[in-house]
Amino acid sequence: MNVLMLSPGYPAEMPEFTRGLAEVGATVIGVGDQPAGALPDRARRHLAAYVQVRSLFDEAGAVAEVRAALGGRSIDRVESNWEPLMLLAARLREALGSPGLTVEQTIPFRDKETMKRKLDAAGIRTPRHESATTIAQCWSAAERIGFPVILKPIAGAGSADTYRCDGPDDLRDVLPRLRHVPEVSVEEFVDGDEYTFDTVTVRGEIRYYNVAWYRPRPLIARTSEWISPQVIALREPDRPELADGVRMGFDVIRALGFESGFTHMEWYRKRDGEVVFGEIGARAPGAHQVDQMNYACDFDVYREWARAVVRGEFGAVIQRKYNVATVYKRAQGQGRIHAVEGLQELLHRYGGAVVWNALLPVGAMRRNWKQTLVSDGFLMLRHPEIATTLAMADEVGTRLRLYAG
Ligand SMILES: Nc1ncnc2c1ncn2[C@@H]1O[C@H](COP(=O)(O)OP(=O)(O)O)[C@@H](O)[C@H]1O
Ligand SMILES: [Mg+2]
Repeated sequence: MNVLMLSPGYPAEMPEFTRGLAEVGATVIGVGDQPAGALPDRARRHLAAYVQVRSLFDEAGAVAEVRAALGGRSIDRVESNWEPLMLLAARLREALGSPGLTVEQTIPFRDKETMKRKLDAAGIRTPRHESATTIAQCWSAAERIGFPVILKPIAGAGSADTYRCDGPDDLRDVLPRLRHVPEVSVEEFVDGDEYTFDTVTVRGEIRYYNVAWYRPRPLIARTSEWISPQVIALREPDRPELADGVRMGFDVIRALGFESGFTHMEWYRKRDGEVVFGEIGARAPGAHQVDQMNYACDFDVYREWARAVVRGEFGAVIQRKYNVATVYKRAQGQGRIHAVEGLQELLHRYGGAVVWNALLPVGAMRRNWKQTLVSDGFLMLRHPEIATTLAMADEVGTRLRLYAG
């Protein structure tokens, strides 16, 4: 089995997916824009070959370069778990005659308007929505939908350029900030809790799923710097209050005709219990949510994903042992981190529960909190009981402090 793995070195999870592919016996050919020498060891070790293209974002150019480099070698799968490369993967499949999602099948996972139209046709509850390419269309869409509304790019990520507007004054403020976005989705604002529904799917059949709870919702987390955002992988995704969301997840996979690999869906649960679709990607989630799954079940879902796409099988027995909380921290101040407060005490109290300390060390430069999902690092911890997990996560949120400047 020859597998093309796009961007095997970046983002952080990609070397692990690359490892998984090699471990289930695939011959892995990396395609990236980093020089081979700059690849993390963990990726390079598992690659049989590497094709460096000039840019992964010039799709036609990258396809031509890969085709030339392969020189007629047959490719059985083209894989990517990074959102900006989903269409490139589809174009490569079409160019190389490999199975998997085509361009046409990928677009509903990329374009949030096409996505919702397809799901509407399947009877799935999406937020009321309209696409808009002009200011006038934004106004008329907002009037038809009714305030509050959300405005967001049809192909956004990480809540970038996403705004809530509670009335005409907000909309007037927000519209100039969206001038660089060619097409936006105007949506009914759906209040409530926000969850993921992540799957490893084999030939359309969901073999593993994970539900994570965002505390608070990503748009709020991205609006206030002082917040320490949490993502909680839930040990009991089959609890009654999640059942409608999980059912919706199964319906969405079916409606979009997803084939084999990871998916990452987001959905909302209103106070009255109604569940509403948010969005879906034909790829794994980022921000180390895949690692959370591993810590929740003590398995290797990177390898099981690889087994799914390479062999059409899922090998792990799923034992849901823990809730896993990731608490992302943002330092106070700018520049280099000079102090970390509260860590020793927290490790003393919860040390057994902490599975990963990925906080930036003293001396490191702060990251731009608006541009990173992992902030200035995170603590990941786990516990079988949800109440204990949440209590520990909140303690990390309030007592752990990083100072920069
Ligand atoms: N219709 C909506 N109602 C309420 N909140 C929304 C709505 N659409 C988006 N949001 C908020 O904005 C965030 C980002 O939107 P999303 O569609 O997930 O785009 P992306 O994650 O690709 O940037 C969501 O996680 C949610 O918190
Ligand atoms: Mg999202």
